[in-house]
Amino acid sequence: MTPVNGQGKEPIAIFGAGWVGLVTGACFAELGHEVTIRDIVPERIEQLRASEVPFFEPGLGELLERNAGRLTFTLDAAEAAAAAELVFICVDTPPTYSGDADLTRVWTVIDELPQLERRTILVMKSTVPVGTGEKVRAALEARGLSHIGYVSNPEFLAEGGAVQDFLHPDRVVVGSFAEADGDRVGALYGGLNTPVVRADVASAEMIKLAANAFLATRISFINEIANVCEVTGADVEKVAEGVGLDHRLGPHFLRAGVGFGGSCFPKDTNALKQLASNSGYHFQLLSAVIEVNELQKRRVIKKLEKHLGRLRGKTIALLGLAFKANTDDMREAPSLSLIDDLTREGASVQAYDPAAGHEARKLFEKNGNVKIVDSAIDALEGADALAIVTEWQEFRSPDFAAIREKLKTPAIFDGRNLYDPAAVRAQGLEYFPIGRKS
Ligand SMILES: NC(=O)c1ccc[n+]([C@@H]2O[C@H](COP(=O)([O-])OP(=O)(O)OC[C@H]3O[C@@H](n4cnc5c(N)ncnc54)[C@H](O)[C@@H]3O)[C@@H](O)[C@H]2O)c1
Repeated sequence: MTPVNGQGKEPIAIFGAGWVGLVTGACFAELGHEVTIRDIVPERIEQLRASEVPFFEPGLGELLERNAGRLTFTLDAAEAAAAAELVFICVDTPPTYSGDADLTRVWTVIDELPQLERRTILVMKSTVPVGTGEKVRAALEARGLSHIGYVSNPEFLAEGGAVQDFLHPDRVVVGSFAEADGDRVGALYGGLNTPVVRADVASAEMIKLAANAFLATRISFINEIANVCEVTGADVEKVAEGVGLDHRLGPHFLRAGVGFGGSCFPKDTNALKQLASNSGYHFQLLSAVIEVNELQKRRVIKKLEKHLGRLRGKTIALLGLAFKANTDDMREAPSLSLIDDLTREGASVQAYDPAAGHEARKLFEKNGNVKIVDSAIDALEGADALAIVTEWQEFRSPDFAAIREKLKTPAIFDGRNLYDPAAVRAQGLEYFPIGRKS
């Protein structure tokens, strides 16, 4: 671990204007660098040129606006790369059918690089399998670009707090083949006063996968504890508090709920499991973490069925569609599994989300059993019961009297443990949280 001093200002190109690319670009511009962001989707580039943020991420709009003078948006790969000293790859690496990471977009970027003359450094921020850096190196050499440097610099930001995470990271990881290339990438973060973990490329790649797998493991662990609490009469919220105060364990990622979702944990846990398996190792623990998560996503529907009986013809009010609060990202969101299960059982869904409504309307456009509404109260209209799936702040202090009056069966199935059970029951509502007495 080396502290970073100094702060070289370098022209930077970013490939991919998604959560990682746009936040990275905006934050580097904030740190004083000249940044060109390239994407392949024309509407996205048009939006960005018109100062519109293409997705919901707190603080990002202000940051882009404040640094507009240092930010350029383009569709042209050659233009972006040619002007840069450092080219960041921030494209998506979605899962393939087998669970491996699909690196098609990464390879496209390598193919798109122009015949660069100077020693540009290619920096991988996308999450990739261990061994990718070696393969990229070989591909660059095959293309006559052996003078191009390569650095693995995985990103740890979390959606919903991405700007804060980028500008105040716990650490920055820099894996390089050549020491000098790692120095230049490390220096970019010089203004952030954060530890920089220097590593070889393979270890840097593994740090990212291991960190996500560990966080997912904590979530599945506390969810299993919650399930045991339910059958033994303990309260998982108390248990998590008592466990989390142990300094060896810490309080983070000990919130029982409906399972993890999003564009990273499901994809990255599967990719690591698959990577191990491709190398002849069965990652038993991670297999269990993934399996526990799949089962956890189905617990709310099991409780609904137990309480309401057959779900055919019933209407469920659903609060929260995004995979977590403060984002409009619905990739692999637990709400999708629940909606899928409910509609398969013949129920209808009236769903509301403070930010993901627009995305959800596109997604469920052709599904007559799913109605996306504009407020929590609208979701309750004519519904049999209420299920809470995302921990948005605005769901934390609801109008319990309105919920009781509007629901046919006054029952809340809370997948995020938002309320004090006694307070909800005092309002004449039945309450089914996770890992607490029902
Ligand atoms: N979203 C997160 O919270 C997060 C956090 C850490 C790491 N990551 C990793 O970072 C990577 C990017 O994630 P994301 O959530 O930003 O993805 P995203 O899907 O939001 O954005 C990816 C962008 O890349 C663009 N793109 C695809 N091919 C391109 C090309 N050839 N040139 C330029 N742009 C291209 C896409 O159009 C899209 O806008 C993934 O590997 C992901 O696992 C994501």
